[in-house]
Amino acid sequence: MLIKIKQPHDIPSSEITPESVYRARRGFLQGMGVAGAGLLAGPALGQEASRVSAQDNPAQALNLASKPDWLTAQMAARKPAPEEGLFTVSDTLTPFEDVTTYNNFYEFGTDKADPSRNARDFKIDPWTVEVTGEVAKKGTYTLEDILKPHTLEERIYRLRCVEAWSMVIPWVGFPLADLIQRFEPTSDARYVEFITLVDRDQMPGQRSRFGTIDWPYREGLRMDEAMHPLTLMAVGVYGDVLPAQNGAPLRLVVPWKYGFKSIKSIVRINFRSTMPNNTWRDLQPNEYGFYANVNPAVSHPRWSQASERRLPSSLFMPQRIDTLPFNGYAEAVADLYADMDLRRFY
Ligand code: MTE
Repeated sequence: MLIKIKQPHDIPSSEITPESVYRARRGFLQGMGVAGAGLLAGPALGQEASRVSAQDNPAQALNLASKPDWLTAQMAARKPAPEEGLFTVSDTLTPFEDVTTYNNFYEFGTDKADPSRNARDFKIDPWTVEVTGEVAKKGTYTLEDILKPHTLEERIYRLRCVEAWSMVIPWVGFPLADLIQRFEPTSDARYVEFITLVDRDQMPGQRSRFGTIDWPYREGLRMDEAMHPLTLMAVGVYGDVLPAQNGAPLRLVVPWKYGFKSIKSIVRINFRSTMPNNTWRDLQPNEYGFYANVNPAVSHPRWSQASERRLPSSLFMPQRIDTLPFNGYAEAVADLYADMDLRRFY
């Protein structure tokens, strides 16, 4: 993966402060205007996640041509993040600004700021997801077909990139397991493969003659990983519909794995009996594997994975912290790999 350490402050901080509104959980910011809440923004607040609607924040509409009304309504009816437990971490939230301007989404360019710049007016309506392979309910589903039966919920997860930076993100989504069950996989379905949109008109990274990725971007999970309660289909962040750069309208979030497993803008879900390819392993198999479990004990060939830079960070506030096995989710997921040599199956 290209490693470019770039400070995530390309957009003036005055422009976008929705995380401060979001932090209004427990009511202490509730009801304040964006400007007032903005005065209190910043990590010093600690994690004060909220159930406040993001409607006050036009910035949350960032980069989508339009948001379907039914999705906005479904988002508003979401269940709030639990106060504690597996689905919420107590680490300080990464500000909305960093979550939405420091991105890896190579379809829109390789620089961290490219996706937020180049994904303007991305279209998520209409959107379909093709379901293929080892399932009873194959077919082409509209986004509404996919989402409507599910109650959306907020979850606050760590995201650890293989490049050794990390964030803490309040997602909105639903368990992938619930979706998979609706498709009725056959007993031959041992893996699930996910495939991103190819659209050279909208995605400049796919037009580049110098790109090395063989589009579409692909990822996969073993069935037991896909069915794990932590594995989330995300449709929102900070209480509103995902911005294009974060993988609108539908992306995977697998918090115990390096971020490249969390594939964005999914248009196909394919159930297979054999292990699928995944984009980064295809490109550099000695550096990136299929499992990609966060593991401080196994270095990337070009850098250590023992610690990470928690965003936002700067020269004066490097925010370097130790990386935890399975990104801190070991208690919930280590059993999935009990018989495996994690140095070999990286
Ligand atoms: N999905 C697609 N389709 N294309 C990508 O380039 N990058 C991955 C992952 N999903 C990527 C992708 C990587 S390397 C990371 S770290 C995460 O998205 C970053 O998610 P974020 O930009 O929302 O933080």
